[in-house]
Amino acid sequence: MRLGYALPRSATPEDPIRLAVLISGGGSGLEALLNYQHDQPRCHRTILVLADSPHAGGLEHGSRHSVKSVSVPLPMKINKSERRVAHEHLIHDELVAADVELVVLSGYMRILTPWFVSRWKGRLVNIHPSLLPDFPGAHAHRDALAAGASVTGCTVHLVDEHVDSGLILAQRQVEVLPGEDEEALQERIKRIEHVLYPKTLDRLCSGQVSL
Ligand code: GAR
Repeated sequence: MRLGYALPRSATPEDPIRLAVLISGGGSGLEALLNYQHDQPRCHRTILVLADSPHAGGLEHGSRHSVKSVSVPLPMKINKSERRVAHEHLIHDELVAADVELVVLSGYMRILTPWFVSRWKGRLVNIHPSLLPDFPGAHAHRDALAAGASVTGCTVHLVDEHVDSGLILAQRQVEVLPGEDEEALQERIKRIEHVLYPKTLDRLCSGQVSL
């Protein structure tokens, strides 16, 4: 088990990996994944959508596809120093109760603690809107534009204990257009993400990723 990753089992469309998608916002990536899984049997199936806010618009995509969709907000009554881990305990409990095999972060904007990562390492995937290791963090498009990058893109990677780090599974380049603003760049990168993420999950869930 190189680097401490324990990959998911090798699945088939008849017995797909049971995955949960974690979101924070509109969930266009979640919607693309649900449509992809709906088109034909895949070796992964979304059985749970989990948001860190009841206001996350993406919860509706899950409900529309008849997937259990719940919000697990930060437990504000718990004192601040213990709140993050307490929140992740609640999420972990939901994942275990649903018998989830793979956790897919899709626009989930919270940094996970080593406690959570250690429980899911190898079965915890993220998509980030830059060519990692360039422009990690919450403002990847803004940072790429500020740096004058002519090319950026998106990266699918296994999550490790560091921020936007971990084994890279796939990347796609996107050219930055002259005069393009943050919003336009974000939308164009999302369109690439919507194809790249489901296809990369196919590889991961059918045993085509080796460490
Ligand atoms: C996506 O572009 C994803 O790469 C990014 O958030 C967006 C979510 O969009 N994730 C991160 O920046 C994580 N650091 P969506 O809610 O429309 O799917």
